Amino acid sequence: MTDNPYADGRGNKDASITRAAGAGELTSDRHGRARPAPGGPFLIGEAMTGGYGKGPDILHACTIAVEAGQIAVIVGPNGAGKSTAMRALFGMLTMRGGSVRLDGEEIGDLSPQDRVRRGMGFVPQVRNIFPTMSVEENLEMGAFIRDDDIRATMAQVYDLFPILRDKRHQAAGELSGGQRQQVAVGRALMTKPKVLMLDEPTAGVSPIVMDELFDRIIEVARTGLPVLMVEQNARQALEIADMGYVLVQGRNAHTGTGRDLLADEDVRRSFLGG
Ligand SMILES: Nc1ncnc2c1ncn2[C@@H]1O[C@H](COP(=O)(O)OP(=O)(O)OP(=O)(O)O)[C@@H](O)[C@H]1O
Ligand SMILES: [Mg+2]
Repeated sequence: MTDNPYADGRGNKDASITRAAGAGELTSDRHGRARPAPGGPFLIGEAMTGGYGKGPDILHACTIAVEAGQIAVIVGPNGAGKSTAMRALFGMLTMRGGSVRLDGEEIGDLSPQDRVRRGMGFVPQVRNIFPTMSVEENLEMGAFIRDDDIRATMAQVYDLFPILRDKRHQAAGELSGGQRQQVAVGRALMTKPKVLMLDEPTAGVSPIVMDELFDRIIEVARTGLPVLMVEQNARQALEIADMGYVLVQGRNAHTGTGRDLLADEDVRRSFLGG
């Protein structure tokens, strides 16, 4: 045992980095994985229709949800609207239909900043770190909404990603791709989010680094923090997903458990290379 709350695979022993109390009560299934208590998804964008500014709708009645204690994954071809769906959940889109609810509350009118205050941690696909600032300054920036002592959270982020502790005084832009993604995820964790949203956390990293990042993401999810992520590596992502969403042209093409989608002939042929 270590004192790293992420190192225990059996769940929510110490979720102090998260505010998982808001995430509903967790139970475990026979594999020891966290399962949500009944009571609806923790975060849901329901029938979201909208686009950028006055431009055409990109999303068409698109529904994405993540349950407490689970990992949900969005996959689909380039340009399908995966990042757009994440931005819609985060309040960066002009919505012409649908709703967004966080922990049972309608948040569709809130600004992105206010959604962060409500507990949304969002790591965008691009420009997700401050490259000229040090690793530690990036983490401090992540905690901008907090006025309490952030040192314990920072220590937990460093326990989760030990390489960041070694490089804490180095400019984040000098790190490798996988290390920069760790900074981005760590920065989001510094707000003690209630839900973590990651847009392609493994973009541009090697398969080994991808596996390591997935392991860390699973660890985070097992503390009780629900994770919603977009992934280009569809097969690997669905393997760790409780729920999967295949988006095509801004619409839900397939929705199901990760296991069901991996077994679905249609999904395999069209999106997983057979
Ligand atoms: N800032 C923007 N302004 C206007 N249109 C945009 C903007 N960002 C994306 N789009 C358009 O929205 C559509 C969906 O793009 P989006 O980036 O959501 O796809 P994606 O599924 O995330 O693709 P990728 O796998 O390449 O990241 C595309 O037609 C794109 O041109
Ligand atoms: Mg994208």
